[in-house]
Amino acid sequence: MNENIVRADELVAGELKEARKSKKLVYVVAFTAALAGLLFGLDIGVISGALPFIAKQFQATTLAQEFVVSSLLVGAVIGTLLSGLISRRWGRKDALLVSAVIFALGSVLSSVAPNADILMAVRLFLGVAVGMASFTAPLYLAEMAPQRIRGGLISMYQLMITIGILAAYLSDTFLSYGGHWRVMLGILVIPSVLMFVGIYLLPKSPRWLVLAGRKKSARAVLEKLRHADEVEAELEAIEETIETKQGGFQLFLSNKQFRKVIFLGIALQAIQQFTGMNVVMYYAPKIFNLAGFTSAVEAMWGTVLVGLINVLATFIAIALVDKIGRKPILFAGFCVMGLSMGTLGLMFHFGMQTSHTLQFIGIAALLMFIVGFAMSAGPIIWVICSEIYPLSGRDFGITISTATNWVCNAIIGATFLTLLQVAGPAHTFWLYGGLNVVFIIVLFIFVPETKGVSLEKIEDNLMSGKRLVRIGR
Ligand code: BGC
Repeated sequence: MNENIVRADELVAGELKEARKSKKLVYVVAFTAALAGLLFGLDIGVISGALPFIAKQFQATTLAQEFVVSSLLVGAVIGTLLSGLISRRWGRKDALLVSAVIFALGSVLSSVAPNADILMAVRLFLGVAVGMASFTAPLYLAEMAPQRIRGGLISMYQLMITIGILAAYLSDTFLSYGGHWRVMLGILVIPSVLMFVGIYLLPKSPRWLVLAGRKKSARAVLEKLRHADEVEAELEAIEETIETKQGGFQLFLSNKQFRKVIFLGIALQAIQQFTGMNVVMYYAPKIFNLAGFTSAVEAMWGTVLVGLINVLATFIAIALVDKIGRKPILFAGFCVMGLSMGTLGLMFHFGMQTSHTLQFIGIAALLMFIVGFAMSAGPIIWVICSEIYPLSGRDFGITISTATNWVCNAIIGATFLTLLQVAGPAHTFWLYGGLNVVFIIVLFIFVPETKGVSLEKIEDNLMSGKRLVRIGR
């Protein structure tokens, strides 16, 4: 008995020591994630405030405005597809450094664009960095982080995206008083340079170093990051992983269960986008205008409120994701989003612009929608997509699902203004409300609960032929 207690004490002491070690690691890794996630968010968020001024200066048509928004997203699709190759050949760290350089160059170039066409081209280029960061940063994090804090870090990464969006809205708002859209875009060179410096100082991923045949360097990195007894075991595990690492695409062709989970990842990321979140992210000032808040300043501050609520509600997910599980949170989120979009559509239908009461209810619904997304689909879709793929097809799976996210993101960005013109705001928001209701059904039929289940168990369940909805049991 006593011996057991002594052992337990030793274990606790060991764990504490380890916790102290990984604390430093968490700090360094989270800082990196913060920088890449922040840039991701800044570049997504900045356009909503800049767009009205750009449209005015370049006399841009609706179509041209949609292209200015969505060219970045098309670039992100390209960046995601490229990053699989680059991060494998040059390593995750160098891929992130390349994206930081593109972020910096793209920020400067977009701020001096002489016309809408060049601006679209530069935003396409900038998008490559956003796509590269969105693929590589979580992957780098996953490879650097000890297993037990991996999930938390992914949600933290989403938190940083939302902080980036909010920071962009705030800077847009301050700069909107003078209509300085060029400064709004150009100022992002500062966090890009910070990102470059931060990442430059970080070690290379040990997993990639083993892949590149540099086992000695990998050991040296692990020795800095892990408890002494963990190093050899982890090195071995990495080597085993690499042995089974070969073909995501071959697996896709040969294995039906893997194909199914690839389609699940595609569906999940499409669902995240078709909730309609980015309609609000990109066009919030426009929605406030339509709702009767006609001054630019009112619309901008309304947009800042949207960004702030997006940040705050993300904490709900961080607090609950490992306690009550992914599915209940997603269910609650889809219900809130469906109801909110339905209500917003109804307020437009009744003529929101003409009554303060309707305006109040409509804006409350819009803000509730943001809460619904940020507490659920925002972080949790990224979390599930990082959990469901078997090891040998994980890179492939994440490439496909992340690329889907950006393709759907581009479709949303490129169609909203046209939808408004053709169908009107009420029907547009009802459409998104209806989609959220459909997603509840998909959630129940296909999505597994992955809380508290090891990745190996999920992989076993999947490969032994279980239905997708059961692979987390
Ligand atoms: C989504 C982005 C979205 C952001 C909003 C992310 O999870 O992938 O498309 O703009 O959340 O917070």
